[in-house]
Amino acid sequence: MGLTNDPNYRKLEQWYKSSAGNLNMREMFEADADRFNKFSLNLETDDGDMLLDYSKNLINTEVMSMLFDMARSVGVEAAREKMFTGEKINFTEGRAVLHIALRNRSKTPIVVDKKDVMPEVNRVLEQMKAFCHKVRSGEWKGFSGKAITDVVNIGIGGSDLGPLMVTEALKPYSKGGPNVWFVSNIDGTHMAKTLAQLNAETTLFIIASKTFTTQETITNAETAREWFLQTANDPSAVAKHFVALSTNAPKVKDFGIDTNNMFEFWDWVGGRYSLWSAIGLSIALHIGFDNFEQLLAGAHWMGDMESNGKYITKSGTHVNYHTGPIVWGEPGTNGQHAFYQLIHQGTRLIPADFLIPAQTQHPIRDNLHHKILMANFLAQTEALMRGKTSDEARKELQSAGMSGDALEKLLPHKVFQGNKPSNSIIFKKLTPFMLGALVAMYEHKIFVQGVMWDINSYDQWGVELGKQLAKKIEPELQDDAEVHSHDSSTNGLISFFKKNRS
Ligand code: F6P
Repeated sequence: MGLTNDPNYRKLEQWYKSSAGNLNMREMFEADADRFNKFSLNLETDDGDMLLDYSKNLINTEVMSMLFDMARSVGVEAAREKMFTGEKINFTEGRAVLHIALRNRSKTPIVVDKKDVMPEVNRVLEQMKAFCHKVRSGEWKGFSGKAITDVVNIGIGGSDLGPLMVTEALKPYSKGGPNVWFVSNIDGTHMAKTLAQLNAETTLFIIASKTFTTQETITNAETAREWFLQTANDPSAVAKHFVALSTNAPKVKDFGIDTNNMFEFWDWVGGRYSLWSAIGLSIALHIGFDNFEQLLAGAHWMGDMESNGKYITKSGTHVNYHTGPIVWGEPGTNGQHAFYQLIHQGTRLIPADFLIPAQTQHPIRDNLHHKILMANFLAQTEALMRGKTSDEARKELQSAGMSGDALEKLLPHKVFQGNKPSNSIIFKKLTPFMLGALVAMYEHKIFVQGVMWDINSYDQWGVELGKQLAKKIEPELQDDAEVHSHDSSTNGLISFFKKNRS
């Protein structure tokens, strides 16, 4: 039926056209002392509380109930059931979408193609646990008998970004673990700069690739092996320094990695949801397997519960609405000194999420830093909601001693419309459990959006197009012959490159 034909969507659309302009957050907060209680949720987790405050959004009770009606009529609950029960909801690739099985800490079986996948999931977790213990304790030795001090994850996309983010966020839990490095980019600078800081005798390379065919990853892995062999001088030493995380055992073998050193996962794990799988090995090595299990437990707790951004609906028709926001952000107050201007006074409505722990990992100077950070967190969300009226701005300028023409000229620049939506998410402390819960919450958001927008959230044919074209262009760059097979811009760029490459 499609989103725009849904009766509850139409109802909301009608309401939006006639009444949305009347939603003023500042007025709604003033008129209803209970607004925060109505539109916030306190979650008691096994690892401290988490507060989700969505009251600073352009909503009221009526809007929320229309949104829930719409979610029901487009079938969010039914779609969630299909995902949880292993149906092949990624229908263009004929795959189930079961990252929830990777963090299923209960004993409940999860079935795909009539087979319970949990014994396999738990087997790989046990393998990871044993390997982590060996590496972290120093029992696993490199070719010259030394323990591993550095782990390099070579992967890209989902085989890089999740573990990179988690190891960065959970650094305070890494005591006793090896350093971790991440190489993803095919730009040789990434690999060269990383290798320059490492000692081959004490470095372990993790080749993380679901398919084990990704050009960037395999090229980087070959480069790492070449570099390693320059020191080790013995191909049999590779087994002590290279492990693979993949679904593709034959390709792992072809590369020269012993399949005993391969940690498996399955085609029902989407690349962007894979940090919970063997792809999380670098996380487990860095913060320890117990903490990795806590991460899984947090994600499981969040509701047992991306690849949006496409204009084709599940039934193959074009949408006439947006199917994916551009998401970006910055830690701490850095964003305030860069792009927040656009959010406060820009011409687009930019909904923002603000996240903060109540307890910092580093309460330095008697918590002074965190107090300042917290004050800025609160100030930003309040300012976005309230803005500053013309009267308020005028009074401020007057009390600064300004008047007359000068004041009138400056005044419009000092007025803020406000009414800009934001969510505030505050939790006790960024523990592995809490991070797992937060990531799972955002994963589930993507799922719900995909159902609402009637698109397949789990395929990515757009990404494939760029890969196909790059494969075609690469041989054309081999020699210095002129290339005429493309549009004039691409031909011109190739010509410039060939003339200037040496
Ligand atoms: O190009 C996108 C993608 O397929 C991602 O989904 C995936 O995480 C990434 O490439 C890397 O793929 P692989 O793990 O197979 O190397």
